[in-house]
Amino acid sequence: MLTERSKEKELLDLGSAYYSQNEYAHCQKMLFKINQLLGFFGNTYRLLKTFPANTSVLDIGCGGGLFILHLSQYLPTFQFIGTDISADAITLAQQNYQEKNSHNNLSFQLQHSNTLTQNENSMDVILSTLVCHHLTDDELIHFLQTTLKIARKAVIINDLHRHGLATFFYRLISPVFRNRLITHDGLISIRRGFTRKEWLLLLQKADIKHYQLKWFFPFRWRLVLWKK
Ligand SMILES: C[S@@+](CC[C@H](N)C(=O)[O-])C[C@H]1O[C@@H](n2cnc3c(N)ncnc32)[C@H](O)[C@@H]1O
Repeated sequence: MLTERSKEKELLDLGSAYYSQNEYAHCQKMLFKINQLLGFFGNTYRLLKTFPANTSVLDIGCGGGLFILHLSQYLPTFQFIGTDISADAITLAQQNYQEKNSHNNLSFQLQHSNTLTQNENSMDVILSTLVCHHLTDDELIHFLQTTLKIARKAVIINDLHRHGLATFFYRLISPVFRNRLITHDGLISIRRGFTRKEWLLLLQKADIKHYQLKWFFPFRWRLVLWKK
């Protein structure tokens, strides 16, 4: 069943006919809690802290923006831009930004298509959390190559390990978050996730050689692409 990446679409990808705005906002809030619980947030913060004080970070697929809203508070001398292909995501990110009365080191922009249009070497770091599993293998190869061109220093990718134990535990735990999208889409996300072998093949196809791929408990990957 988990021998290859699922092609099933998440409700989030199907668009706003599949969820209410309240459900969506609650889902993004819970997603940030999950990012904290799984260690994506802390781990990314500790890595970013090793970069210079004036580092610029582009978060691709920022969702409701909470990940960089919190990073921008911990790293006030950094500059953050969040983009997402979903208009619902950017509207919510802007609302969250107003409500949190955040530092002015942060902005959000709607990404109008799958194609990234940022200039080469225009941002120090590209960050992308829980986005790669939304892409097909071919889209992902292109994404890895393009983000590496846009980055001056590194691309940080956080995503899920497709594993039977991960689906088993997620099925048990996710009802705690009381959100239909979190349970439904979370299980699909794991099934769309990656094995180490798949990452290595994707990186080989993308002709990327300077990288670090690390597995962390529980069932998550951090892939860092380094600019030469
Ligand atoms: C699971 S959410 C993760 C949101 C956020 N990064 C987080 O960790 O809370 C995935 C997000 O990626 C966005 N997304 C999917 N494909 C994308 C693409 N090709 N370019 C930009 N954003 C994309 C979706 O709209 C969605 O908001």
